[in-house]
Amino acid sequence: MNINLTLYGIIILVAISLKLILRKIKNRRKIALANRIPGPRGLSSIVELLSFSIQGPNKFLENLLNLHKKYGKSLFKVWILDDLIVSVTKPEEIGQVLTNTKLFKRSKHYSVFHESFSIGKGIFFTDNFDEWKHNRKLVSEGLKFSTLKSYMPIFYEEANALGKVLYEQRDQISHECEISKAVSRATMEIIGRTTLGIQFGGQKNSKNHLLENIEFLQEVWEHRIAYPWLLKPILFRLSSLKRAHDESQSSLFKWLDDYVYKKIANSKNIDPVEHDKEHKAEEPKTLIDILLDNNPPMSFNQLRSELATVIVGGQDTTAIANACIIFMLAHHQDVQNKVYQEMSRIFSSDDTNRSPTYGDLQQMGYLECVIKETLRLYSPGPIHAKHVDEEVTIGDTLIPADSTILIVIRHVHLNPELYPEPETFNPDNFLPEACQKRPPYSFIPFSAGFRNCIGIKYAMLELKIVISTLVRSYKFSPADKCPTPQNLRLKCLGTLKFVDGCYVKIESRT
Ligand code: HEM
Repeated sequence: MNINLTLYGIIILVAISLKLILRKIKNRRKIALANRIPGPRGLSSIVELLSFSIQGPNKFLENLLNLHKKYGKSLFKVWILDDLIVSVTKPEEIGQVLTNTKLFKRSKHYSVFHESFSIGKGIFFTDNFDEWKHNRKLVSEGLKFSTLKSYMPIFYEEANALGKVLYEQRDQISHECEISKAVSRATMEIIGRTTLGIQFGGQKNSKNHLLENIEFLQEVWEHRIAYPWLLKPILFRLSSLKRAHDESQSSLFKWLDDYVYKKIANSKNIDPVEHDKEHKAEEPKTLIDILLDNNPPMSFNQLRSELATVIVGGQDTTAIANACIIFMLAHHQDVQNKVYQEMSRIFSSDDTNRSPTYGDLQQMGYLECVIKETLRLYSPGPIHAKHVDEEVTIGDTLIPADSTILIVIRHVHLNPELYPEPETFNPDNFLPEACQKRPPYSFIPFSAGFRNCIGIKYAMLELKIVISTLVRSYKFSPADKCPTPQNLRLKCLGTLKFVDGCYVKIESRT
């Protein structure tokens, strides 16, 4: 018995040692190439890692930026245990990463979003280039300009509803209100109406089962990023969150499945000419209608994956962007006055309640600068990560296979060589003459290259309509709960999040 135990012990030890030796041999080239890349080494790399772990998720983005201040003059590396991460910081090198088809795959760190929201693989998650190219073309059809223009009345209607909600929710004495939740409900309503043609009613009712499921799944993914051991499926399975997560997920997916089935059944029963006539008379064609019109039709699985991808990709990002723009306007009265003056020039005093036309939006040049400047300082998705399948040269550096390339957008946007006084909010940074002076890839809130955001035009149209509508009717100013922009605490859990909400004062202009 004892001899047997000893033998087993020896076998296990030999097996572990062999595994370690094999891994070392396999990783020899990776380690050798990594050693040539600058970055924290030895004790200092352990110190850096420890400060990230001790200070936790709320300080993650700040710590990442500090690390970039120390090492980010050029490309640098960090090891996180076995994971080699190479951060690329110069615009020209970022361009090389974003336009290289070999760097098509997103890193494994995105799998947490996929586990919660994606049934199958939509364009955001797929690793298959041909499949991605085919489906991206189909989804782009649903987000093309003529379709987006038909969504403008929806953006306007929901912006008006948002204004009323914020105004009603304000504290009667201080006029302060927390805006992030209401803004998030508004962008959920917008994305629901434009992709599926449904109204969640989230701006009117605080309770909505479907919406609550989506919000809960978002909270779970944030929680898993904040407590990274929960990213390991086995540990997540053991946690109390997993059961509630699965219930929300299956309820949401069942609802989406039933809805998509019904839509498919309806589309088969309706004469396409009559269908088009009906649509012209009422609501615009939504993304699901457009994807269903496709010939040959998209498979059921693909259809629901693409819908889930666009809903998740388009809701949270526009929510944080809208909230940050309102916050920056509140804290920069001179800028808010200029935006208001622009609106007064476009909408004369006798048509203050008029819905904006596309021509009106084209005249909102200053508001566009304000939106871009806010996206520079508060990019809703501040970090990208690509998987390196095979060795690739970026600049003069050979990056080993099986590593991750990181692009910290916020670091690029705070580079004083690209933006003088980078911490100062200055919409003039986006006047045409200022933009011309900067190299390509120095403003990348929507990423760039072939796998950039598919919803840029949708987002810009929505942001312009929501913010112009709010500024036409309301005046925003700093809240005592958050008296300066430095008091606004943000964290990054996949997308940017407010740590303590986002408070401003709101007053009616009439
Ligand atoms: C201010 C708003 C938005 C920002 C800042 C933003 C940002 C981004 C970024 C940075 C990426 C690339 C992510 C990466 O490579 O890691 C991306 C991809 C994507 N975005 Fe957006 N986004 C916004 C709005 C939208 C909207 C409104 C939609 C849809 C209606 C959308 C749908 C998508 C999709 C589907 C992808 C994946 C594209 C692909 O892989 O081919 N986004 N977005």
